[in-house]
Amino acid sequence: MKKIFIIAGGYSKEREISLDTAKSVFSELCKDKKYIIKIHEPDGNFIKNMRNFKPDVVLNLLHGRYGEDGYIQAILETEKVKYTHSGVLSSSLAMDKEISKKIFLQNGISTPNYLKFSFKKKINKKNLINKLRKKLGFPVVIKPINEGSSVNVFICNSINFFKKLNNLKDYGEILIEKYIPGREIQVAVLSNKILGAIELRPRRKFYDYQAKYNPRAKTEHIIPVNITKDQYSRVTNAALKAHKLLKCSTVTRSDFRFYKNKFYLLEINTQPGMTSLSLVPEIAKFNNITFKNLIEKILRDASFKK
Ligand SMILES: Nc1ncnc2c1ncn2[C@@H]1O[C@H](COP(=O)(O)OP(=O)(O)O)[C@@H](O)[C@H]1O
Ligand SMILES: [Mg+2]
Repeated sequence: MKKIFIIAGGYSKEREISLDTAKSVFSELCKDKKYIIKIHEPDGNFIKNMRNFKPDVVLNLLHGRYGEDGYIQAILETEKVKYTHSGVLSSSLAMDKEISKKIFLQNGISTPNYLKFSFKKKINKKNLINKLRKKLGFPVVIKPINEGSSVNVFICNSINFFKKLNNLKDYGEILIEKYIPGREIQVAVLSNKILGAIELRPRRKFYDYQAKYNPRAKTEHIIPVNITKDQYSRVTNAALKAHKLLKCSTVTRSDFRFYKNKFYLLEINTQPGMTSLSLVPEIAKFNNITFKNLIEKILRDASFKK
């Protein structure tokens, strides 16, 4: 018998996805009578209830801020419990798209060119458009530095730029990236090894929230990805390198754009989704790792981290 304390839900904009992930994982683990499972929100009672429950493992199924950025990991560390996925440092680094991009670039991993934009400074609209035209070229992608699930990611041209930008002003600082046309390929790493890759072909303008989670958006999932052996080796090794550079644990999913024979790493996710439409379980399944095997691997890898 193993006692598993699942943390899910939370306060980020990806709350619903986390609950969905927890639902899939819980129903899979319940098929087997060998687990005693408690699911809890990371709320005011969670530490007290976790102490009372005395789990063998804490299964962190949170996404986004407070769950994927080192915050909950620091609490679990302080509680001296074994927990799944990445530790404090890796989670914080991976969640911050600006810092992780700097690490990628310093280590020869391509990522789209970008500028950091601060809403605190006064903007001269004309100068900004000219600067973007010169440094990145339109269209550009605007995105929060530490968000997920494509929440508040927008592709803009020079005409609708300020209108879209307005949606992000509460973040204070954001990234403006060069838009990379081409294909969308994601790579999963499991237990420090390449698990595999998948291509996404959204029917929408890009792989946005709807394309990710609404089955009616009918995003096509293509596995195996139709690329050459050399291309497969390049993209999967870039994902493994990013996983190791950030000292991630157990499982990560790296999101790439593929254009003109070059892969651009957008980000690495330390808490990849495990819903029925999620990609890591699909890549695992393609490699004969069932959903249950995958969850059990994640549980077995749980440790005390630094
Ligand atoms: N520079 C870019 N060029 C083209 N598409 C992009 C770019 N940045 C983001 N996207 C699109 O937006 C999606 C979400 O962006 P991403 O950086 O992975 O943030 P999130 O953490 O929200 O998943 C990507 O999967 C891709 O479809
Ligand atoms: Mg992404």
